[in-house]
Amino acid sequence: MSKKPIILGIESSCDETAASIITENEQGTPTILSSIVSSQVDVHKEFGGVVPELAARSHIEKIDLITKKAIDKSGIMLDDVDAIAATAGPGLIVCLSVGLSFGKAMASSLNKPFIAVNHLEGHALSPKLNSKLNYPYLLLLISGGHTQFLSVKGLGEYKRLGTTIDDALGEAFDKTAKMLGIEFPGGPQIEEYAKKGDPDKYKLPKPIFHKGGCNLSFAGLKTAVLRIVKKIKTDQEKYDLAASFQKTVEEILYKKSKIAFKEFKNINGDKANIFVVAGGVAANKKIRKVLTKLCNEENFNAIFPPINLCGDNAAMIAMVGLEKYKLKQFSELDHPAKPRWPLDEEAAFLKGAGVRL
Ligand code: KG4
Ligand code: ZN
Repeated sequence: MSKKPIILGIESSCDETAASIITENEQGTPTILSSIVSSQVDVHKEFGGVVPELAARSHIEKIDLITKKAIDKSGIMLDDVDAIAATAGPGLIVCLSVGLSFGKAMASSLNKPFIAVNHLEGHALSPKLNSKLNYPYLLLLISGGHTQFLSVKGLGEYKRLGTTIDDALGEAFDKTAKMLGIEFPGGPQIEEYAKKGDPDKYKLPKPIFHKGGCNLSFAGLKTAVLRIVKKIKTDQEKYDLAASFQKTVEEILYKKSKIAFKEFKNINGDKANIFVVAGGVAANKKIRKVLTKLCNEENFNAIFPPINLCGDNAAMIAMVGLEKYKLKQFSELDHPAKPRWPLDEEAAFLKGAGVRL
């Protein structure tokens, strides 16, 4: 019986301090031995958003404790760890630096390989923690900072098909929530409000709905919400607005995913039919339902991470670490923190204009 790799993952890109130990069983199925996530919601609540300096300070205070908890809970000894994987970007540089330096220091003192991980690749691979997932697959990444369709051919092989041209979807949820007087981060609360509201009460715009391929836009939607919020008086009207907002988002995602399906098949052939939806907003049950319905209609397989692994966590970082470990893709200890780190570096560079998108 060969020893299976044991990976320690560390995540500190934004406002969650997280550590996780994963391995795989004899069949090669990834197994989470522990996953500890410490959220900083209470630290940032009164400011209505993440304050980078406070977030970094909180990471510094907690990272060793959280890592110790992950090791204790996993039942392994520290020396059993085969590699340390830490998020190197994208994210807030002051936050990234904490987990990255900590991960490098551990790798160095334990004399084990270090693996720098792209946080977005963590989200992209998170469904592997509970489902069998073969390449190629179409990925819809919907988080607080990103909204993209990507064709995924293999580890590190991403081709962007579409992206938001303004706000990320999670950001649109959070801003709508803020306008309705809901505390940060409001995305999950909008889902709760929407359950009590009439989704047809307010007609909201769907920017670039009929053009732009599978690119998306949410800024106009947010502005429309702001206009209506000013006239709202009752709680019921708030629920109705949340429901109308969420329904509009569902319609946008349904239509744009359908376009992305076509583009994905054009690239990968007609048999390619796996659709992965990941990132914080993928926790939204109504969005899961609508996209599952689309997949049933279009003969695609819908794959979602478990709800508790949609938001930021370190198990997904360890998952990328596990794949890279098996390919011996190790990083140098001087690997920089990269606040901007697109999955598809090629597409992100607008040739001629010399700007990164
Ligand atoms: O992936 P994530 O945890 O962090 C980033 O990498 O950005 O995503 C956080 C985003 C936040 O905007 C949050 O409001 C949103 O995901 N979110 C939701 C739900 N749960 C989290 N949005 C809509 N419905 C939810 N249930
Ligand atoms: Zn994330």
